[in-house]
Amino acid sequence: MTGRASARCLLPGAAAALLLLSSLPAAAEYADVVINRQSDRNGVRPVVFPHWFHRIRFRCKVCHAELGFRMKAGGNSINMTEIIEGRYCGACHNNDIAWSPERCDLCHSGKPGLPSGVYGGHETSGPGRW
Ligand code: HEC
Ligand code: HEC
Ligand code: HEC
Repeated sequence: MTGRASARCLLPGAAAALLLLSSLPAAAEYADVVINRQSDRNGVRPVVFPHWFHRIRFRCKVCHAELGFRMKAGGNSINMTEIIEGRYCGACHNNDIAWSPERCDLCHSGKPGLPSGVYGGHETSGPGRW
């Protein structure tokens, strides 16, 4: 803490940049991810994925290795056929581990036009917040 405080006195710009950089990975882990590669284009609301909610229940590698989600907001090409066949979100949202793909609005809960990206901070927000 004292190190950061004194760095800020000497070099305000650089210290602010360092603080911002060091907060990025945490933000990605804790916040919501909006996925809107094809939702808008196909007439449904963007998907809000509550990352923190999931990451306290499952290990990173379940999703980012076994299920093949690339670690980048909007970085995966996902369609409903794959989900219904049990890939991506559908590996769990299959009416067994979690509720079924028929609950469209629980996933497609974002405001129309919201671009893919990380939203929010150290909190779990859930459907309908963004
Ligand atoms: C468990 C979460 C989840 C549920 C439930 C869900 N979707 Fe999706 N859906 C997604 C994700 C993730 C994408 C990829 C979003 C993107 O890239 O914009 C997607 C993409 C889509 C797309 C665009 C791609 C395509 O396959 O045409 C449509 C249309 C769509 N969903 C409709 C629906 C409808 C209708 C329902 C309910 C019957 C539904 N979704 C339920 C997660 C879900
Ligand atoms: C239940 C599945 C799941 C779990 C568990 C999970 N993630 Fe993710 N993660 C995702 C999805 C889905 C995305 C968004 C991918 C997309 O938008 O196409 C994502 C995105 C990310 C991103 C990119 C965010 C950005 O800035 O673009 C990072 C970094 C990340 N995850 C790290 C982690 C870490 C670290 C863990 C474990 C502590 C973890 N994830 C656990 C599903 C998961
Ligand atoms: C590794 C398993 C797993 C994967 C993969 C997964 N989920 Fe989930 N998800 C769950 C479980 C378990 C719950 C809690 C279900 C319950 O409460 O009945 C949940 C709950 C949710 C919720 C509700 C959160 C809340 O606050 O109640 C949303 C929204 C959601 N998932 C969206 C998605 C989307 C979108 C994807 C794909 C990008 C996805 N999930 C992938 C397991 C998963």
